[in-house]
Amino acid sequence: MLYGACCCISFHFLKRFFILIWHPYTQMQTAPHPIQISYGKGAVLYTTEGKELIDAVSSWWVNLHGHAHPYMAQRIYEQAQQLEQVIFAGFTHQPAQTLAARLLRHLPQNQTKVFFSDDGSTAVEVALKMALQYWHNKHTPRTRIVAFENAYHGDTFGAMSVSGRSTFTEPFTPMLFDVTHIAVPTKGNEALALEQLEQCLQTNEVAAFIFEPLVQGTAGMVMYQPETLDAMLALCKKHQVITIADEVMTGFGRTGRLFASHYLQQQPDVFCLSKGLTGGYLPMGITTCAQFIYDAFLSDDRRRALFHGHSYTANSLACAAALASLDLLEDPFTQKQIQHINQQHQQFKTRIAQHPKLADCRITGTIMAIEIATTEQSSYFNHLRDFMYNFCIEQGVLLRPLGNIVYLIPPYCINPQQLERVYEVILLMIEEV
Ligand SMILES: Cc1ncc(COP(=O)(O)O)c(C=O)c1O
Repeated sequence: MLYGACCCISFHFLKRFFILIWHPYTQMQTAPHPIQISYGKGAVLYTTEGKELIDAVSSWWVNLHGHAHPYMAQRIYEQAQQLEQVIFAGFTHQPAQTLAARLLRHLPQNQTKVFFSDDGSTAVEVALKMALQYWHNKHTPRTRIVAFENAYHGDTFGAMSVSGRSTFTEPFTPMLFDVTHIAVPTKGNEALALEQLEQCLQTNEVAAFIFEPLVQGTAGMVMYQPETLDAMLALCKKHQVITIADEVMTGFGRTGRLFASHYLQQQPDVFCLSKGLTGGYLPMGITTCAQFIYDAFLSDDRRRALFHGHSYTANSLACAAALASLDLLEDPFTQKQIQHINQQHQQFKTRIAQHPKLADCRITGTIMAIEIATTEQSSYFNHLRDFMYNFCIEQGVLLRPLGNIVYLIPPYCINPQQLERVYEVILLMIEEV
C-alpha cells in the first residue's frame, strides 16, 4: 500500500516536471513521456527504472568517448577549481590558448585563427558573418551564399537560411535570406553539382559556399565522394569565393579521419566545429579561418572588427573538456577503435546487403546509414520512423531514425558485443517493418 502510494507520488511528481519542460523537435501533444535517465557509463545509458540503453547515436552525435568518462570528469573538475569563466573580450586564459594551438595543428595548414562560440549553429553564424563582413570590409558587394540542397546547418536564422528549405524552416520562410541551393554531388549527380556551381559563380556576387563535407547528417546521412567536392572548391578558389566546411557533425573522427576535410586535396577557408569538440561533455562551438579573412578585419577603424560574441565565449570548463577529449582522441587506442567500428560496419553491410527490405546501406568511417524500402518517399516524416524508434528502445538500443533511414554514429568506446547487439536489433526491426 505504502509502496503503491510512493509510486503514485513519484509518477505525479515526474509528470509535473515533464509538463514544465518544452522538449526540442518534439510534438508535445502526442509525444510519449521522455525516458528518464539517471546515469550513463561508457556506451550505455541507464534509466531510473533500471533499463539499459546502448547509445548508438552518441546522444545527438556529441559523445565520443562514452558517458561519465573518469578522465573527462577529472579534467573538468580540476579546471572548475581554477577558473570556470571569464569575460573573453579583453581577457584570455590558458585552456583557450592551448586548445586553439592544438586544434590548428590538426586542421589544414591554411587555418590560422580560432573564434569561440556556443554550439554548432553559432559556429555557422560566425562563419557566415566572417564571410559576409569580409566582403563588406573590402568594399566589394558580394552577398550571395551558395549551399547544398537538403543541407542542415542549424536552427538559428542564418543557419536556417543556408539550410535546405524544409518543414523545419517553413514557418520562417519569409524571414530567411535568399540562398542559392545546388545539387549534392552524390553518385550520378557530380556533373550537375559542378555545373550548377559554375553557373552561379559567373555572377561575381557569391560571397561564400557552405557545405557538410562527405556526409549530410540531418538530410539522412547522405554520402558523397571527395573528388567532386575538391573540383567545386577549386572552382570557388578560382572565383575568390570563401569556402566554409561545416564539420559540426563530421569532425573529430566520425568519417574515419580526424576531419572529413582530410580526404580533400583543397583546403577550405573556414571550419565550423562543435558536437564532438568537447567529447560531448559541454556545449561549445568554434569557427576557424584562414589568415586572409582575419586580415580583412584589421584596421585602425574599430567599426571593421567582427561584432560577435556570446556571454560564455571560450568557457574554460568547455575548453578543458575539449583538451581532455583531444587527449583521448589522439590515443592510438581510440584510433584503433575508429577503425574497428568501420570494419564491423562493413561486415554487417555485407551480411544485410541483399535484404529485400533494404533500399540502401552506406558507410563513411564510423557512420552507417540503413535506408528501409518504403512505398512513401524517403523523408523525416516517414510513417516507419516512430515504429522503428520505439522498437529499438524496447530492445535496449537508442537509435533515432531520420524517417525511414536508421543510422549509427556510436561513441568510439562501444565494444564489439554492444555493436553486434545494435545490428541484431536492427535486423529484428527490419523483419518487423
Ligand atoms: C552539420 C551541422 N551543422 C550545424 C549543426 C547545428 O549544431 P547545434 O545543434 O549544436 O546548434 C548541426 C546539428 O546537427 C549539424 O549537423
